[in-house]
Amino acid sequence: MALLGRVNLRRSRTSSWNAYFCYLFPPFAVMSLIVIILSLRPDILFLKSHNNTTNITKVFQLPARSPKPSPQRCNDNASHCSIPTKAEEASPYHNWQIFKADYEEMLQKFKIFVYPDVFINNKSSPFALVFRPHPNPLDPKIGNYFSEHAFKLALLHSSFVTQHPEEAHFFFLPFSINVMRNHPLLRSESSISDFVANYVSRVSSEFEFWNASGGGVDHFFVCCHSVGRDAASKHYALHNNAIQITCSSTYFQRLYTPHKDIALPQVWPRPHDILLNPPNARNKLVFFAGRVQNSRIRKELLSLWGNDTSLSIFSGNPSFPYEEGFRTSKYCLHVKGYEVNTARISDAIHYGCIPVLISDHYDLPFGNILDWSTFSIIVSHRDIGLLKYILTSVSEQMYMKLYKNLCIVRKHFRWHDVPTSYDAFHMTAYQLWLRRGFHRLATYQLN
Ligand SMILES: *[C@@H]1O[C@H](CO)[C@@H](O)[C@H](O)[C@H]1NC(C)=O
Ligand SMILES: *[C@@H]1O[C@H](CO)[C@@H](O)[C@H](O)[C@H]1NC(C)=O
Ligand SMILES: *[C@@H]1O[C@H](CO)[C@@H](O)[C@H](O)[C@H]1NC(C)=O
Ligand SMILES: *[C@@H]1O[C@H](CO)[C@@H](O)[C@H](O)[C@H]1NC(C)=O
Ligand SMILES: *[C@@H]1O[C@H](CO)[C@@H](O)[C@H](O)[C@H]1NC(C)=O
Ligand SMILES: *[C@@H]1O[C@H](CO)[C@@H](O)[C@H](O)[C@H]1NC(C)=O
Ligand SMILES: *[C@@H]1O[C@H](CO)[C@@H](O)[C@H](O)[C@H]1NC(C)=O
Repeated sequence: MALLGRVNLRRSRTSSWNAYFCYLFPPFAVMSLIVIILSLRPDILFLKSHNNTTNITKVFQLPARSPKPSPQRCNDNASHCSIPTKAEEASPYHNWQIFKADYEEMLQKFKIFVYPDVFINNKSSPFALVFRPHPNPLDPKIGNYFSEHAFKLALLHSSFVTQHPEEAHFFFLPFSINVMRNHPLLRSESSISDFVANYVSRVSSEFEFWNASGGGVDHFFVCCHSVGRDAASKHYALHNNAIQITCSSTYFQRLYTPHKDIALPQVWPRPHDILLNPPNARNKLVFFAGRVQNSRIRKELLSLWGNDTSLSIFSGNPSFPYEEGFRTSKYCLHVKGYEVNTARISDAIHYGCIPVLISDHYDLPFGNILDWSTFSIIVSHRDIGLLKYILTSVSEQMYMKLYKNLCIVRKHFRWHDVPTSYDAFHMTAYQLWLRRGFHRLATYQLN
């Protein structure tokens, strides 16, 4: 509880008036768009009733499973990056023993039902793509939105998927916000939220599982796209009851509810087999490069520190390769942009650079399991003037502790298409596991 309290301190004290206002007056264009979509696509109305168990492998036509998980060739066992063996050594977990025991129970018992592709009867439907796993999640265009696709792929390859909805703890609504965003018939935020609302209405009228929990309490969806934050806005129970697993997890946003919804790490796909630069090969103190538009705090950072040559802080691209900044710096800044999240945190973790988080109200991924203060430095927006002082005050001994803990948590921020233990998939699934265990209002029986 103390741990949750710590996270709660980050909760914003200022409620967003403008957010509530929008919430009370949803645009009435919704109705006409639904009518237009339905008249264009009458097949949306016909959903295969789930009276039968469906073979998910067939439904989603999964890409061929790699024979075994790709070997982890990063030097996590190198001397400067070894896992502490003594209990008294710093650990990045709030309570490793409790987490480990519960995690292992999850591996034995957790069951998730994936709704079948609603277009299963019509493979030529232009919307089928929205529900299928992405054929190439490593497509460079996906970049920032990779986590959404990586989660789905890992889930479909995991042992949690059940063909028997009656034994499921959770139900996955497999639509992809990222695919919708690039879909010629959807694209706009408004048509995406109409499509999602329409889809969920169909699920709730055609399948008995939605109503059984009082309206989607045991249902979830995933997104890592800023557009996703409004995707659920036009379906009341979807955004109030269902669990949103999202990269844009902030205490300062109307459609994200901490402790119901789940923070997903935003991860840029990078090759796993890199060698970490040890701390003594990191000659830059701190690195940041990024666009400053749309971000008051980045502008402030640049105006305060942009001219200090002992810091590598750039507006736009640096004069050297971006990755080089992460490899050769002791600290790497993550500074709030348009959203609280960017891939910089997982990039920093990937390259062994201690993340410095300047992003108030961010509900950090896995914050109830990982003690972020043991492997990152959190700086409040108002302390940005003290940045250099804060970083130069960290003793060498303290830095080595941060670095060791960072090495330990690296595995939690990696995706694999066949999930491996304690990877980003299993950590995210564990967040769902913690949210199970409510009473179903009704039971359902399958033949
Ligand atoms: C479901 O299956 C049962 C028997 O297997 C059958 O009696 C019933 O009509 C089916 N319902 C639908 C909606 O197909
Ligand atoms: C389920 O569907 C398959 C084909 O779609 C059919 O062969 C089978 O009899 C069905 N089972 C039940 C219990 O309805
Ligand atoms: C589901 O379909 C896949 C591919 O067709 C097949 O390999 C697998 O055995 C099927 N599983 C079940 C439970 O029928
Ligand atoms: C540890 O590192 C060595 C080389 O540095 C490698 O051969 C070995 O496979 C690694 N062990 C594990 C468990 O990763
Ligand atoms: C399947 O989708 C295609 C393309 O949208 C459409 O022309 C066709 O009528 C649909 N078939 C059925 C059975 O709904
Ligand atoms: C779920 O509840 C809604 C609203 O009460 C109802 O319209 C719908 O038919 C129900 N779904 C099922 C599968 O019974
Ligand atoms: C940084 O340098 C630029 C260009 O030399 C100058 O215009 C600006 O005032 C400087 N900013 C600070 C805070 O010294």
